Amino acid sequence: MDRKEFLKICGFSCLGVLGLSGMMQSCGTTHYATSTIKNNQLILSKKEFEITEKDSTRYRNYVVSKVEGINYPIIIYKNLNDTYTALLLRCSHQGAELTVNGDVLTCSAHGSEFGKNGDVIQGPAEQQLTAFKVQTDTQNIYIELS
Ligand code: FES
Repeated sequence: MDRKEFLKICGFSCLGVLGLSGMMQSCGTTHYATSTIKNNQLILSKKEFEITEKDSTRYRNYVVSKVEGINYPIIIYKNLNDTYTALLLRCSHQGAELTVNGDVLTCSAHGSEFGKNGDVIQGPAEQQLTAFKVQTDTQNIYIELS
């Protein structure tokens, strides 16, 4: 394989990967959940994760909630075994609001990345994200805001 042929094949492969990732991102639009605050708890229904179609129900991997009085949204990930993780979308480096890219939270200020458990994947941030204690019952999710 000569150089020209190699570049041609790699170029088409890269375009395919970019196109596929663009399509995947457009399918995963963020759902902003309706929530209430009571006794310093953010309360949202588990139904916020449901996507009901004609004869079936799928589940979102996460929802985002904007909370009055808190300057940053909170992302709630649905884990296995009916457990949830709630993270403040505030970068631990210098406080920029994070962007949700599925299971990766990215900071456009200086490039830090965090996983869905709040751990740092890539710096310059060194500390994990603020996580909230989460409890559930059969219908709702309760996030302790303090
Ligand atoms: S504020 Fe997020 S990486 Fe600097």
